[in-house]
Formats: sequence, structure tokens, C-alpha cells
Amino acid sequence: MSEVRVLLLPGDGIGPEVLAEARALLEALGPATGLRFSFSDDLIGGAAIDAYGTPLREETIEAARQSDAVLLGAVGGPKWDYLPKATRPEAGLLGLRKELGLFANLRPVKVFDALADASPLKPEIVRGVDLLVVRELTGGLYFGQPSELVRGPEGRRAVDTLPYTEAEIARIVDLAFRLARERRRKVTSVDKANVLNTSQLWREVATEVASRYPEVTLEHALVDSCAMRLVSRPRDFDVLVMENLFGDILSDEAAVLAGSLGMLPSASLHGAPPSRPGSPARLFGLYEPVHGSAPDIAGRGIANPIGAILSAAMLLRWTLGQEAAATAVEAAVADVLDAGIRTADLAGSGTQPVGTAEFGRLVRER
Ligand code: NAI
Ligand code: MG
Repeated sequence: MSEVRVLLLPGDGIGPEVLAEARALLEALGPATGLRFSFSDDLIGGAAIDAYGTPLREETIEAARQSDAVLLGAVGGPKWDYLPKATRPEAGLLGLRKELGLFANLRPVKVFDALADASPLKPEIVRGVDLLVVRELTGGLYFGQPSELVRGPEGRRAVDTLPYTEAEIARIVDLAFRLARERRRKVTSVDKANVLNTSQLWREVATEVASRYPEVTLEHALVDSCAMRLVSRPRDFDVLVMENLFGDILSDEAAVLAGSLGMLPSASLHGAPPSRPGSPARLFGLYEPVHGSAPDIAGRGIANPIGAILSAAMLLRWTLGQEAAATAVEAAVADVLDAGIRTADLAGSGTQPVGTAEFGRLVRER
């Protein structure tokens, strides 16, 4: 049996609650996949601040480097809001992504048939949506220098900087094309090329990369009109690729399609996945639900674990090349939803919701 080392970073709020279900799922799958998962635990975010005075320790980065993959819950909460930006829980997560060179953030948004009426959008708009947002994660506005807020005698002034090199753009766009090749063969490159220089470069590089993938269609879209199309004609999209800030915003917008923020998984990678399926090569990845620590419902055992469970499925797919197991997990989630079972965030009036642990158990049972 092949051993898989997974570092668990539960974090804060509902993070530990949903991560427990992702862990139990992988353990349950072990025998069927011929894999033995060995888990280690560490603190990150607010939990690490409370224990060690820092949101991310050097030892944690090292432990991540020694692992095949990291499964993370969520970080943050009002308890740590008084801290300056650089030492808050969120800085721990940004630091980890950056230290590990995880430049590609994959956020699939797939609408389960049973939840076509769970979105505030009309069922005929969201039914059948299956798109993938590929967000650049280690560059752009979130890391560019200078970045400061100056409180001077003439008043306050602030600046953030949006830098991209052609190499940074090429590697993320290339990854988007590789992924699109295995899907419906369409890439939408999102930019603001009518205003921003970085976007003009982005468009040039995307067009160059596209010439290496004649079987995939490239479409350029301006981010503002793309935001509109995401909620008016979301089935138009297959793979969308964009810079860090645009990706942050549009992927949250796309979450509306799925019915709840609690539904969505993500993977952060530092390179293109090996050719599937069943490739023995392992690609390191950080897997986490898209949602935050949800302080409003933390500690009550009612959080939706689907985002965390589907993140474990992404681990099976991208780090381990276990496509069949990943698909089986997704099918099990669909099956539970088809049976009308819902956590509180999805339960309409008249439906008795189940808790986090019960939902996780029902998925494992299937
Ligand atoms: P949030 O995602 O934690 O919660 C937004 C809303 O969605 C809340 O009403 C919450 O109850 C609900 N929700 C989220 N996940 C859910 C789940 N699995 N099941 C059921 N309901 C769920 O975002 P918010 O409230 O803006 O941020 C709370 C804290 O989380 C902040 O400190 C923020 O900085 C942090 N955060 C951390 C992230 C991460 O660790 N990747 C991402 C986003 C926010
Ligand atoms: Mg966000």
C-alpha cells in the first residue's frame, strides 16, 4: 500500500468542523484506492496566533513541504480583527500560498441537479453549470510593491500596485489551456485590456499561449461584462483564467450559482497536473473549501461540509491522479442531495436539516 502524507490545517471557526469530515472521507476511501493516508496536524491562522503568537510558523511551512498535500479548513474571525493586516490570521494563509509557490488556484463551480433551485438565480439559468475558475494566486495587486497607506500632514494617501511579468501570465494561462483540453475545450481569458497595461500584456500572452493549443478555443472577455454574463448566461463558460483580484471577486460571484458558499472546493497548485489518469507522479497541492471561518455558525455543528469534502476529492484527482475515486466522491455527494438531505444553509422551509457530521457520514456510507 502506498502511503500518502497529508498535513491537516483546520484553522478557525468552522474550519475544524468541516475538515474532520474531509479527513474521515479520505480514511474511509483508503482500502478501495490502495492508499494509506497518514495525517499530521498543525495550527494556522487565529489558532496559531493564540498558541504561538504568529499566524504561520516556519515549522508549519516545513511540514507542508514534507507532505504530499495540505488540507486546510479556514482562518480568521472577529477575535483577531484588532491586529494589523500583516499579523492577522489571513496573513498566515497568504504566506503559506506564497511560500509554497502555489500560483494556480482552481475553483470549480458545478451545480448539482438537486440544487438547481437553491440559487437565488432562476433554475433554468443555473441548471447544468459546470465551469472552472483558474485564478492567479501569487502575483498582482495582492503582492505588488509599493503598497501602503500613508497618513501625512497633507491628508491620507494609499497605493496598491498591480505588476505581472510575461512568465507569470504564461504559466497560469498555459495551465488553464491544459485543463480546458480535458474538458469542453474553451478558455475565457478575463482582463480589463481597455484600461490596464497589465491586462494588455495578459491579452498578448494569452493569445500567444493559445497558438500552442489549436484544439482549444480562446475567448477574451472584459471583467465587467464577464461579471454580468456569469449570472445571466453561466453555461457559456468552461474554463476562465484571470489575475488574482479579478479571480477573487468573480469566483465568489460564481459561488452564487451553486446555492451556498459552503458548496465550493478549491485547489492551489504550483504546476500543471501530470497527465491523467493514474499517473504515479504526485503533484503537491493545498486543498481548501472556498468559504471562510463562518463565525456566525461556528461551534454548532451545522456547517455544510460539502466544500471540504469536494476539496478532498480534488486532492484525490490532482495530487494522486485518482480520477475514479474523485468522481465517486462527487457522485456520493450528489446522491445524498438527490435524497433531499440538506444542511441548514441549503434547507428551505419545511426541510429538517442534518448536521455537519451526519452529512459527512451519509456521504461516506454511499
Ligand atoms: P464566510 O465564508 O466565513 O461566511 C459568509 C457567510 O456564509 C456566513 O453567513 C456563513 O455562515 C456562511 N457560510 C460560509 N461557509 C459555510 C458553510 N460551510 N456552511 C454553511 N454556511 C456557511 O465569510 P465572512 O463571514 O466574510 O468571513 C468570516 C471570516 O473568515 C473572516 O475573518 C474572513 O477574513 C475569513 N475568511 C477566510 C477565508 C479562508 O480561510 N480561506 C476565506 C474567506 C473569509
Ligand atoms: Mg474571496
